[in-house]
Amino acid sequence: AATGKGNYRHFMEKELHEHPVVLGDTLTQYLDPMTRSVTLPPLPFDPATVPRMTITACGSAFLAGLVGRYWIEQLARIPVDADVASEFRYREPPLPEGGAALLVSQSGETADTMAALRLLRENAQKVVAVVNVPESSMAREADGAVLTVAGPEIGVASTKAFTAQLAVLACLAIGFGRARGTISIEDEAKLTASLLEVPGNAALVLERDAEIRAMAAEVAKARDVLFLGRGTLFPIAMEGALKLKEISYIHAEGYAAGEMKHGPIALIDNAVPVISLCPSGPMFEKTASNLQEAAARGGRIMAFTDDLGAEKLARFAERVVVLPRVGAFSAPILHAIPVQLLAYHVAVLKGTDVDQPRNLAKSVTVE
Ligand code: G6P
Repeated sequence: AATGKGNYRHFMEKELHEHPVVLGDTLTQYLDPMTRSVTLPPLPFDPATVPRMTITACGSAFLAGLVGRYWIEQLARIPVDADVASEFRYREPPLPEGGAALLVSQSGETADTMAALRLLRENAQKVVAVVNVPESSMAREADGAVLTVAGPEIGVASTKAFTAQLAVLACLAIGFGRARGTISIEDEAKLTASLLEVPGNAALVLERDAEIRAMAAEVAKARDVLFLGRGTLFPIAMEGALKLKEISYIHAEGYAAGEMKHGPIALIDNAVPVISLCPSGPMFEKTASNLQEAAARGGRIMAFTDDLGAEKLARFAERVVVLPRVGAFSAPILHAIPVQLLAYHVAVLKGTDVDQPRNLAKSVTVE
């Protein structure tokens, strides 16, 4: 049955292994492999003229939204405001006439996100819910719904729903960019082609399982863990830290790599794993030099990168896991998988209740 664990020990493990299928199902809703173009779903606003967008959500869904903000700003040049729903709803943000909002939620029932939805609508914003449950409250109350096709997610800590959210946001960003003329047809074809390779690359990432389990054995001994990333990998660093906290109960922080010297560097010693998301690309040298600084202070550098980044990082990193080289656009989707796998293996080693971590709920329907 779709809701059984099959041969897996935990729902989380099963759901992690569903990434390739879920990403394929979600992407093919919006991407045409023949024409290498994006078909936007019906939207209650015109992306060509929208002056500004709000993205709001809670938990991992918010972190997916943060990646969406980078993409939409970069590709479509729409200013995007992103905030957690519990802050957004009380901070009285000025909302422009004709503005639009994206809400991101697996369940479509989270209380704060739901309240943000109502506030946005009261303020004449056109609201689109990116949800995994088509019959959810958010899907019903929003002006439009865009579906992730992740199937039921049982593990409390989100895995496949998170990457499916990223996949949808990536498609929207390309579609918005085309609608506004801020990217060309050639750009669209290139970006689409790179997304179409994501499911196959996700399968390759899952093959790194043994290496990630070995990394987990080291991480499991730590009291504090630092995750670093830049650009779209910064929210993924935060997701890595969130996931590790949630299911292994190890204290972790996700930081923008360039911000490390403004605080976390004070904590670094030879007991602190510094886990970095550092694929080759325009930001590589900057992040690598931040890592070198952390290494110089005794930090134990563990890096997720690709073949091009591996050689340099191996000079000072304790562990380097080589992922497929995919280009900056799809990198955050692929890097989400190993940080989830890492948290999973650490939790298993620590013997926690992986699918039902203490004090957490799958869907937080109270404020
Ligand atoms: C809880 C879950 C998280 C999830 C968050 C938002 O904290 O444990 O995995 O990201 O709620 O839930 P939603 O259903 O709105 O995505």
